[in-house]
Amino acid sequence: MSALRKTYDRIAPIYDLLDGPYEKLWKGRLRTEVFRGLSGAILDAGAGTGCNIPAYPQHAHVTAVDASEPMLMKARQRAQRLGRRVEIRREDLSAMSFADESFDAVVATFVFMCIPEEAQLAALREIARVCRRGGEIRLVDYCMSEKPALRAGMRAMSPWLKFVFHGSYQSGVEKHVDAAGLVVVARNLLVGDVVKMTVLRRP
Ligand SMILES: C[S@@+](CC[C@H](N)C(=O)[O-])C[C@H]1O[C@@H](n2cnc3c(N)ncnc32)[C@H](O)[C@@H]1O
Repeated sequence: MSALRKTYDRIAPIYDLLDGPYEKLWKGRLRTEVFRGLSGAILDAGAGTGCNIPAYPQHAHVTAVDASEPMLMKARQRAQRLGRRVEIRREDLSAMSFADESFDAVVATFVFMCIPEEAQLAALREIARVCRRGGEIRLVDYCMSEKPALRAGMRAMSPWLKFVFHGSYQSGVEKHVDAAGLVVVARNLLVGDVVKMTVLRRP
């Protein structure tokens, strides 16, 4: 079992508690923004406990996948609580069982910041494969602030982020965009200069 999956299997019962304050302060609003304008078949890649579920567009058909079954159990409970129909299943992003071009759009929020550098290209290639040509891929991750004080604070928090979430404030996923056969169509800062959405397209 990978270290990353072990981490999420272990923290699944308390993930929503740990993340709750951020969810209330800014993540909830951000999620609505991230899914805005999407429709059809959407893949929520690395869906975790299903924090994005309230933001799924009403008439879209969303499939939520994650490597950690305990995280997905929480997602199933959330979908049930909210009365949302979501297909939820365990998949490793680096080798998914979906046919090519199965989705109109793919969203991954705070996922690539957790994936080790050497595994990122395989995951991005898979995401590109399952997204239809012309479809949109939206990746949301932290990025290091340019503001010295904030940057220093983020540096200080980095070991905690690594230890608890297997995460990093610098995902580095953009360096794999060409090799995955994708193009960057937009980069939007969503929260100050610390959370960025990279919009990619499969030409
Ligand atoms: C920080 S959580 C984010 C969860 C959710 N997207 C959110 O916004 O709250 C990262 C999630 O990515 C999942 N993940 C990381 N690497 C993965 C992989 N290769 N395949 C599937 N899921 C993965 C983890 O299991 C974890 O649930």
